[in-house]
Amino acid sequence: MTIERHPWTPETDDGHADLASHDTWVHGTPYATLERLRDEDPVSWVDEADGSGFWAVTRYADVIELNRRWDDFTSYRGIRLEEMDAEETEARRTLMELDPPDHTRLRRLVNRGFTRRTVESYEEPIRELTGDILDEALALGEFDFVGEVARVLPMRMLGRLLGVPDDDAAQLVDWGDQLLSNSDPEYTDHVVDQVDTDEFRLIPFRSPAGLEVFRYAQEAAIERRGCPHDDVISRLLEPTTDGEPLSDLEFNNFFALLVAAGNDTTRYSLTEGLRALVDHPDQFRALRDDPSLIDSAVEEILRWTTVTTHFRRTATSDQEVGGRAIAEGDKVVLWWASADYDQRKFDDPYRFDIRRDPNDHVAFGRNGPHLCLGAWLARMEIRITLQELLARTTEIEIVHTSDRLRSNLISGTKHLTVRVGT
Ligand code: HEM
Repeated sequence: MTIERHPWTPETDDGHADLASHDTWVHGTPYATLERLRDEDPVSWVDEADGSGFWAVTRYADVIELNRRWDDFTSYRGIRLEEMDAEETEARRTLMELDPPDHTRLRRLVNRGFTRRTVESYEEPIRELTGDILDEALALGEFDFVGEVARVLPMRMLGRLLGVPDDDAAQLVDWGDQLLSNSDPEYTDHVVDQVDTDEFRLIPFRSPAGLEVFRYAQEAAIERRGCPHDDVISRLLEPTTDGEPLSDLEFNNFFALLVAAGNDTTRYSLTEGLRALVDHPDQFRALRDDPSLIDSAVEEILRWTTVTTHFRRTATSDQEVGGRAIAEGDKVVLWWASADYDQRKFDDPYRFDIRRDPNDHVAFGRNGPHLCLGAWLARMEIRITLQELLARTTEIEIVHTSDRLRSNLISGTKHLTVRVGT
């Protein structure tokens, strides 16, 4: 039987929530609004507080189609809602704000650090690390799963690949939070839509933390250029037969992108994924009883959580999409968080089903040049964390869930108090 609403629909969501406002997302993903848009107005104009606006594309088929057409819908002019002038865009450009062929060249260089094979060759050290962190947390009996586990693990895991010392991971997590969570006062004093951040307009995410990350990246590069280590950073800096190494500036920008993109995305997938399992005891039991379900459970967690809510493109010419006239220069926003619940694509989309097959979700994008570079790493992080958690616990209960991130870009719960039986 199809249920009518997503069980986590916020009470505040009357079907007409303001998608652009960071405050909307403090209550949770506005599932009812996204569903209404998919049904009634799938390419819909949304006004923004600063007088600008964007086209919200909410159906799966349209999201996939526009993401594939990178020449009509460019990433060059930014991938977030924030409007940047030409100077800002240039200074803050990363892999994400490029189109082919410039994107292809850079992407080919960094791909080699994140292939499935490279990532899975780190499985054993990452599993050991996960076990150590879980043992410490579980000994507490009752604890904040985000603070003790989900916020700590992804950067430590990424650090293992990059060759970053464990002792530096906490600092990188803080910087990563200041960058990507630049709209949430818990993580930064420089809240983008509340204080004047003009002084930092040429720095990633308008955040002073961007400068610190650049400095850290530069030191790591200098150290390895003289004496390569056995790690992904060294590999990215070495010349190879299939391409030049990254320049210093490319490396710094790429490192900052990793610190932002590899940090809280997996954190919130893990947290919301655990919440989904606890909320659906039959599914949790099935996974405990049959560990071979782990891979499809991870995919369903990725779909269910779709942590990166959207990315923006800009129309390079006048276009018609879904009967709406999109003008050259208009912002066009692809709502992954909506596409993954489109009933035209997914049977019974509000049912959390760890056996869902097929499950062609867009949590990592799909069909476009920017498909998540960290997809295999994120999958492995979620898989190992769940496997090790299940191996060490007999039951998990949620005591309290509080405070969602204030961000229209990343959706997640900042604190999740759990009680565990071991
Ligand atoms: C569950 C966790 C994650 C989610 C939901 C996620 C989501 C996404 C999405 C939606 C995109 C854009 C796809 C597109 O535009 O077509 C993306 C790109 C990217 N992600 Fe992830 N990501 C996750 C984890 C990671 C991790 C762990 C890393 C670190 C290695 C990472 C690094 C990147 C990078 C560098 C890009 C840009 C790729 C490009 O422009 O070519 N992500 N991610």
